[in-house]
Amino acid sequence: MQTVKKAIIPAAGLGTRFLPVTKAMPKEMLPIVDKPTIQYIVEEAIESGIEDIIIVTGKGKRAIEDHFDHNFELEDNLMKKEKFDMLEKVNYASNVDIHYIRQKDPKGLGHAVWCARKFIGDEPFAVLLGDDIVQAETPGLRQLIQQYEDTESSVVGVQQVPFEQTHRYGIVDPNTVEGRRYQVNNFVEKPQQGNAPSNLAIMGRYVLTPEIFTYLDKQELGAGGEIQLTDAIQKINALQQVYAYDFEGKRYDVGEKLGFIRTNLEFALQNEAYSDDVEQMMKDLLTEKANI
Ligand code: G1P
Repeated sequence: MQTVKKAIIPAAGLGTRFLPVTKAMPKEMLPIVDKPTIQYIVEEAIESGIEDIIIVTGKGKRAIEDHFDHNFELEDNLMKKEKFDMLEKVNYASNVDIHYIRQKDPKGLGHAVWCARKFIGDEPFAVLLGDDIVQAETPGLRQLIQQYEDTESSVVGVQQVPFEQTHRYGIVDPNTVEGRRYQVNNFVEKPQQGNAPSNLAIMGRYVLTPEIFTYLDKQELGAGGEIQLTDAIQKINALQQVYAYDFEGKRYDVGEKLGFIRTNLEFALQNEAYSDDVEQMMKDLLTEKANI
């Protein structure tokens, strides 16, 4: 069995949900406390055993490449000032070996993944989407890789969402269940409200076999007029079983403004350096609001 060593991180989206801040800055660089969202995704990939990462970028995404590169002036400055803690943090990002490819037309997630096909070749691979940060004892992607190792089949990470939110996600129509793993009848991208076959939503973590590229090659436009990864997964499911795995861990939705604000607050509260002050700050703000 081939092991999963390569991962694709699509990061070419325009970030329209965050405008105007994303006019000149990639949404993947928006910070959760003190790290850009994409660094959490890269860290999860590495902790899951991934050795080669390719980020699919687009126009205006240079800052991502700079973040994962050395900045000699800055490193030299931190060294001279003996700010070793900070130097270590800055160096973490620059020591990760990352490859980049540009998605030249914004044709959707399926197309972004397809852009990395030559880098992947004939191996199983992972996809991690940047809109979901996962905190778990065993990293979210690692859990899916373990399922791939058990089944030698593609596996999609899912979690339950409230039914009124199903139209925002790829949704799974489950067949049989064994522990946390489901055999799947259908994968449906963004079903209309009231039409979702379940509330098991695809959560931005995938392990896929390379045959998916054959379908992405000729995939027609789907929901939102874009080439959808979910539609290609549905096609491949007819030939080789694709499993859904309800992974353990807490998922943070950083792909929309309120989820992003909440994640920042939660991560700040979890951080020893800030938690007491942030808690006090939140209490003060609520008292101020009540007194207006
Ligand atoms: C994408 C996928 C969708 C998935 C979601 C998770 O949608 O197409 O299947 O459920 O990510 O965040 P997007 O949010 O990019 O529209």
